[in-house]
Amino acid sequence: YEIYLNGMTGAVPRLPTDLTRLEELTEGRLEPGPVGYVAGSAGDGSTARANRAALERRRIVPRMLRDVRERDLSVEVLGRALPAPLALAPVGVLSIMHPEAESAAARAAAAHGVPYILSSASSTPIEQVAEAMGDAERWFQLYWSRDREVTRSFLGRARASGFTVLVVTLDTPMLAWRPRDLDQAYLPFLHGVGTANYFTDPAFAAGLAKPVHEDPNAAVLHFVNLFADPGKTWPDLAFLRENWDGPIVLKGVLHPDDARLAADAGMDGVVVSNHGGRQVAGSVAAADALPRVARAVGDRLSVLFDSGVRTGDDVFKALALGARAVLLGRPYVYGLGLDGQSGVEHVIRCLLAEFDLTLALCGHRGPSTVGPEDLVEDGG
Ligand code: FNR
Repeated sequence: YEIYLNGMTGAVPRLPTDLTRLEELTEGRLEPGPVGYVAGSAGDGSTARANRAALERRRIVPRMLRDVRERDLSVEVLGRALPAPLALAPVGVLSIMHPEAESAAARAAAAHGVPYILSSASSTPIEQVAEAMGDAERWFQLYWSRDREVTRSFLGRARASGFTVLVVTLDTPMLAWRPRDLDQAYLPFLHGVGTANYFTDPAFAAGLAKPVHEDPNAAVLHFVNLFADPGKTWPDLAFLRENWDGPIVLKGVLHPDDARLAADAGMDGVVVSNHGGRQVAGSVAAADALPRVARAVGDRLSVLFDSGVRTGDDVFKALALGARAVLLGRPYVYGLGLDGQSGVEHVIRCLLAEFDLTLALCGHRGPSTVGPEDLVEDGG
């Protein structure tokens, strides 16, 4: 109620409480290159639009007279108790948005007990982000390099730094066709920023002829060459299982058969995601893929969801479609760009407050009772 009580004193929030408006605010306030990189999508943007449309098309049917005075947003995901069904999605190169980059986003997540998923393409080394977070819950996202030693080194560093869950992103064996970046000739990595996590890694440095500071361009090219690997197949997952003793989640799964393969390979979860529409133009909307994946493996794996979540009712809808929790991408990145750590905290608090109100107004006391019967499609 804090944000409503502000109405009594006339204290206006520094950022809008409608998180769908954050993107437009970045235009003009931040550099066009970084804004285009964050807001941009694959191809003509149809997947990103479809993500929103698939959530908006589904409508909630609220229930009445159910005593919703006491509510509890907590959920159990991958054997850990989370205060709410929310984590911050891995987003690389955050120094293009704010000088405090990943550390500021991680501190904001830590302040609310929301897991922070650190991208392996972060502008801040793994260890430094861990230091910013104290003992707060943190997960590590892996871009699965073609260089085994780099992968092994990242996993070891993440484990030693208290990261508990490994999130392996499968949908980016190469970067997609992204016209906003192509037209502006903007790619953070090629501008020499954002990859400090690689540049400080000993296994990465071992592959360079000269130290990073002597030939930064060669280091950037080396990164571009090794960061991912289009040659990987399902049996390769055994390598990750051997080198990571905690839960492993595969991110970017859209087909129910891929979800079954993940379960067969001994994985612990999947993130139903199309990378926020940034990889395959014309891809199925993530919210349309979600119920099929949940039906296929919901009893074997933790099914998480991202791509298009902007509001509290989107979180509610994702749970109703079968997700245990959602990851939030661009909105917190805009919050970071506009107001640093407090901008990210604003986004988390608004989203959770709106989700809490949605639960209450729809007759639920917590996430566990939300299900498919709460939704209709296209007005029913
Ligand atoms: C991403 N995403 C991403 N995913 C990942 O696994 N590793 C990464 O380094 C990145 N980097 C990244 C940068 C930027 C600028 C964006 C916008 C996204 C994808 C991210 O984790 C998530 O899947 C989407 O952002 C979710 O969609 P929404 O919430 O942005 O619509």
